[in-house]
Amino acid sequence: MESCALTIRPLTEAELPAFVAVLCESFLTDHTELWLDFVRSTFEPGRLHGVFDDTRLVGTGQILTKQLTVPGPRVTPVAAVSGVSVAADHRRRGALSLLMRTQLHGLHESGGEPFAALWASESRIYGRFGYGLASQTCRYSLLKGADFRPGTPTSADRVRELPRAEAIPLLEAIYQKVAPSRIGWLTRGVAGWAETLADNADMRDGMSSLRFALHPEGYAVYRTKGGRDERGPNGTVSVVEVVAGTAQAYATLWRHLLDMDLARTVDVRLGIDDALVHLVAEPMNVVRTLSPGLWVRLVDLDRALTTRGYRTPVDLVLQVGDALCPWNAGRWRLHVDATGQAEVTRTNSDADLALDIVELGAVFLGGTRLSTLAAAGRVHELTEGAVARASLAFLGEQIPSCAEVF
Ligand SMILES: CC(C)(COP(=O)(O)OP(=O)(O)OC[C@H]1O[C@@H](n2cnc3c(N)ncnc32)[C@H](O)[C@@H]1OP(=O)(O)O)[C@@H](O)C(=O)NCCC(=O)NCCS
Repeated sequence: MESCALTIRPLTEAELPAFVAVLCESFLTDHTELWLDFVRSTFEPGRLHGVFDDTRLVGTGQILTKQLTVPGPRVTPVAAVSGVSVAADHRRRGALSLLMRTQLHGLHESGGEPFAALWASESRIYGRFGYGLASQTCRYSLLKGADFRPGTPTSADRVRELPRAEAIPLLEAIYQKVAPSRIGWLTRGVAGWAETLADNADMRDGMSSLRFALHPEGYAVYRTKGGRDERGPNGTVSVVEVVAGTAQAYATLWRHLLDMDLARTVDVRLGIDDALVHLVAEPMNVVRTLSPGLWVRLVDLDRALTTRGYRTPVDLVLQVGDALCPWNAGRWRLHVDATGQAEVTRTNSDADLALDIVELGAVFLGGTRLSTLAAAGRVHELTEGAVARASLAFLGEQIPSCAEVF
């Protein structure tokens, strides 16, 4: 590694064009103007850092202030890490390492969000900085007309297609009602909606503008693409999201999407155990492709572990390793009472489990099982039965899923 003296500091609003230039180059795109508009709308002073080689900006990264539903379910602040990029000619010289350290130490010193989350462009990047894979996402592909199981309850209320301006306030109200009970969902502010409903022609990948299907208790946002081949119409319905407060509304919206004339396939990205698989008569015909979802990093493990609720009472001593954030390292007692509330304190008692902060991040949302990590040799059981007890306690109400890529 060639050495160069890199420095880091927060960027000002006037430096956003330089930030976007590095970001776009890193992400192999020319969409600078689009990104600049978006970055301006999400700018939070003091939370967007630039790494400099002398006076040249060569690396970037920001923390977005967001809230996430964690097991309990509880809605809690999360440091949403985004905009991470390093100029092509400055890679592997420690710019990202400097950024990660600055972000995590800054959150610790300021008493900011107790945990951070991000989407990784590549899975190998963030483990070394203490991020664990906490959720997975799944692309589902169904054939048009896929039957539901007999007896699936749909609702008598019709689904209406509405123009964008009329639909948005209704979407917001429904989402706000549903999100607090769904593990992994983000509370959606102006920026979250702008990102989810971004509809610039350059970003549609040949598909239609967004369409909005509304039910009194749910909605679907989707795009379409027409087409024909020798077998007839082969259009695509590409679903951005389906949000519903009741099982009937969910099934009714999916019936609407699956019965779109001239379509052949319907695809969507959802959590890995979505109810959709259990709505259809032939789950084997739903093609599923898994990919990594949210990565979570505990900034202060005692503060983070007490923000969430637990499934079962447990009393365990954890031996934790954390090279980047040494204030987390050492032995901690995790005591969960009968209501699912945790207390986390320093202890000198013998440990029941030994693991790294990465593994605690991975199990934090209840999506990755501690027992699975133990089977992969990543968690060490020092007291018989400790893995099983901890594994159960860390489960959430649902397997987490996060719809928004930030
Ligand atoms: C990913 C990226 C930010 C890494 O930045 P960087 O400044 O090169 O990273 P660092 O020099 O601090 O690397 C730290 C360590 O991580 C490793 N590493 C960094 N990026 C890696 C990658 N993509 N794959 C595997 N290892 C990687 C380095 O080899 C180094 O390892 P070492 O400590 O054993 O020497 C940069 O390559 C980039 O901008 N990529 C394109 C945009 C992108 O993917 N951004 C991330 C969005 S989530």
